[in-house]
Amino acid sequence: MPPILVVDNQPDMRIKLEQGLIRVGYPVESASDGSQALDMFKAVKYSMVIADEQSTGGDSLEVINSVKKISPQIPVVIMTSHGTVHHAVEAMQAGACDYILKPFSFEVLERTVKKAIGALWGDRGLRIGSDKDHCQKAAKEIVTRSQKLKGILNQARDIAPSIATVLIQGESGTGKELLAAYVHRHSLHPEAPYVAVNCAALPDTLAESELFGHEKGSFTGAVGRKIGKFELVKKGTLVLDEISEMARPLQAKLLRVLQEKEIDRVGGTHPIPIKARVIAISNVDLKKAVKDGKFREDLYYRINVIPLTLPPLRQRKEDIELLARYFIGKYCRLNHKKNIEIDDTAMDVLLNHVWEGNVRELENTMERAVLIGSGRHISPQNLLLDASENKSEFQDTFSFKAGRTVRDMEKELIFRTLEDVNDNRTQAAELLGISIRTLRNKLREYKEESLS
Ligand SMILES: Nc1ncnc2c1ncn2[C@@H]1O[C@H](COP(=O)(O)OP(=O)(O)OP(=O)(O)O)[C@@H](O)[C@H]1O
Ligand SMILES: [Mg+2]
Repeated sequence: MPPILVVDNQPDMRIKLEQGLIRVGYPVESASDGSQALDMFKAVKYSMVIADEQSTGGDSLEVINSVKKISPQIPVVIMTSHGTVHHAVEAMQAGACDYILKPFSFEVLERTVKKAIGALWGDRGLRIGSDKDHCQKAAKEIVTRSQKLKGILNQARDIAPSIATVLIQGESGTGKELLAAYVHRHSLHPEAPYVAVNCAALPDTLAESELFGHEKGSFTGAVGRKIGKFELVKKGTLVLDEISEMARPLQAKLLRVLQEKEIDRVGGTHPIPIKARVIAISNVDLKKAVKDGKFREDLYYRINVIPLTLPPLRQRKEDIELLARYFIGKYCRLNHKKNIEIDDTAMDVLLNHVWEGNVRELENTMERAVLIGSGRHISPQNLLLDASENKSEFQDTFSFKAGRTVRDMEKELIFRTLEDVNDNRTQAAELLGISIRTLRNKLREYKEESLS
């Protein structure tokens, strides 16, 4: 594998980076500024570039641009400091694949390098860590070509280094846990623990001690001291999955914890400060749960500091084909099968299916197809999807009960169609069989209605 090019103007930092990377098996060369780096880059082949944002002569974007012009696929990672994290965001937009916030631990550097090199060099890159490790990492990749989802990933990345609470919402199987792990990976402490708790599965009686811990003898059965999840993750990330299912009394306690940034162990005598970053996940609309009186309003506002909402698959149809092929590849590899192709007719079935279970359902379908197919092709029969399901897109959610007006239904159909085509009015009008002018007029009417 070609060497990694390190760019840093501080000799001691450069030596540390070089020695560290060489110790784990990567060949390294270094430059002290951007123009030297570019000269080297033009002359020799490198596997990736790691550049300190301040060493590039003040213009890391130019370095990224020049590198990308010479070899577009070469990963560029930018090292930046806390105060200039917005530069990192610009760098990512210019084509850098990742950034590291200084000061960082060597583990963070190693992990970032491994990820960047792995993405380009695959198995030709060095393998550090166990195979299992490698598989799990690969399984966590978020695959998408949807602009909408890419926008959310950018947003997630931007907010990851803060410690504000994140609320991830989305229908079942849209990748909420995947996104939570993504936020953790880009946080300031990706090396710290990441722990997910399913609030729906916590028995009421044990929930408090699971989260906050307890002291020895604080209740019958409390034979020893127990450290709760909030303390366990240290500076890492605590994911509260299915937060809407949390019992009311516990909601009150959680609110206090998030406000005070300290916990009380059950039976404890003094509060303990916590540093954990909390990510709450919900697949029901939490705002609605508040309206229905099932969820505390004050807690809702406390956790909804940074809301991220994942679009369902029907709003990013462009991902179906990509994901299907990705999952076929994944399950062929896992099952030691040769690469299997998918027939066009089978792909059409996938594109027209109503994916109520979203990406999870698509993944299961492809896994099954890979396992049951005996030949080298996946045909529609291998998908085991009920053809009768492939009817109207809205069939399941549109309610045709008597008591609704035609106008009401029309409005719903228009809004849903728009949602489905990412607000592309031309496309929506075409699908609805009306002119774009009619569509525009109707939308204006609805707007006036809602304002009056
Ligand atoms: N964009 C994606 N790229 C690759 N795999 C994905 C993507 N989105 C989801 N998956 C896969 O789909 C499955 C479901 O994802 P995940 O568990 O994150 O969804 P979820 O929203 O938490 O679901 P639920 O609401 O049912 O808990 C996982 O196996 C995950 O790896
Ligand atoms: Mg989940």
